[in-house]
Amino acid sequence: AIPGPAGGSTLLTGIGELTTNVPGGPGTREGDPTGLVTDAVVLLDGGRVAWTGPAREVRDAVGRALGGRAPDATVDAGGRAVIPGFVDSHTHLLFAGARAAEFEARMAGRPYEAGGIRSTVAATRAASDDALRAGLARHLDEAARQGTTTVEVKSGYGLTVADEERAARLAREVTPEVTFLGAHVVPAEYAGRADEYVDLVRGDMLAACAPYARWVDVFCETGAFTPEQSRRVLEAGAAAGLGVRVHANQLGPGEGVRLAVALGAAAVDHCTYLTDDDVAALAGSWSGAAGAAPGTVATLLPGVEFSTRQPYPDARRLLDAGAVVALASDCNPGSSYTSSMPLCVALAVREMRMTVAEAVWSATAGGALALRRDDVGHLAPGARADVVLLDAPSRVHLAYRPGVPLVGAVWKDGVRLP
Ligand code: NIG
Ligand code: FE
Repeated sequence: AIPGPAGGSTLLTGIGELTTNVPGGPGTREGDPTGLVTDAVVLLDGGRVAWTGPAREVRDAVGRALGGRAPDATVDAGGRAVIPGFVDSHTHLLFAGARAAEFEARMAGRPYEAGGIRSTVAATRAASDDALRAGLARHLDEAARQGTTTVEVKSGYGLTVADEERAARLAREVTPEVTFLGAHVVPAEYAGRADEYVDLVRGDMLAACAPYARWVDVFCETGAFTPEQSRRVLEAGAAAGLGVRVHANQLGPGEGVRLAVALGAAAVDHCTYLTDDDVAALAGSWSGAAGAAPGTVATLLPGVEFSTRQPYPDARRLLDAGAVVALASDCNPGSSYTSSMPLCVALAVREMRMTVAEAVWSATAGGALALRRDDVGHLAPGARADVVLLDAPSRVHLAYRPGVPLVGAVWKDGVRLP
């Protein structure tokens, strides 16, 4: 292996239970999509995974992978579990201010309203670049310490050409997964003129943000944008070379999920209120021939239902129909102010009828599919060396011990986080 920019090699030994998400890999059991290996070893080299497999095969394999070199570091996991770093495919981390009073009022009985977004817009517009950078860095650090190694960040609290451009530019400083969400809500100054705002979003605002963004997104919901307005924004984004993702069916049923599937979106997120037709469309999006474009991932965001007291979506219904499910935090100051993927896993298992194996897969490999990334979310030779060592003997503890800090160590691109 050629050492990459991250340089050195690390051998992780004594892993009691390794989740690779690679079915059929060395030491896995047939038919296990999570590619679990017991008594396992992982070799990281030059920022990439060089080898994974059972300890009994390690001597020959590691010698081959390193061309006779000894690893620079060896870490004994002492029987603990290892999983791929979490892929948080949906956050709104470019914001200023907080909305604790709104949360408190909601817990006292007030409903969640999309209009709350506008108060974060005001705080974000008023913040300096450096204040926004500092908030972003603080939240990313918080997420990393909970095992998140890939994170998507949306704009959407600027809602002017200059403020959205700034959000996309600052987000691009920390992640390649930047989403342009100029169509988050209609800002106050465009009240009653939603179509004019849509024209701004798909015109000058998109042009200013596209150089920094990989994705375009729209909040397709009553109180935000209609399916027709959403389609116009998404089609303009796609024409500008951006991939499509959609916020839909969060607060009630609607056409957003089917619109997302029709446009070949990588993901449609929330999916709290789904009809049988929505579920069938999501599942059907994956039934193309081998080699066909991937389908639309249903990204579930249990932090939102937790924090807004809405009913949780039923992941079992989606999975049994053959849909592909991702889990993400939706971290934002309004509907879900948590950066914790372990919490999302625990909620998905407890409240959404997912098995632990499914939830861990959805928070790693599922997130990678939602971002159409083939280099993260799994551990196999060539994948990014993004690894989480749990302070627990198995991944079951992520759901079994909710709220307990179980992330023992994190490697990002082969480098151990301090
Ligand atoms: O994903 N649904 C739209 N946007 C965010 C909420 C943002 C906010 O309340 O500030 C969400 O839940
Ligand atoms: Fe969101």
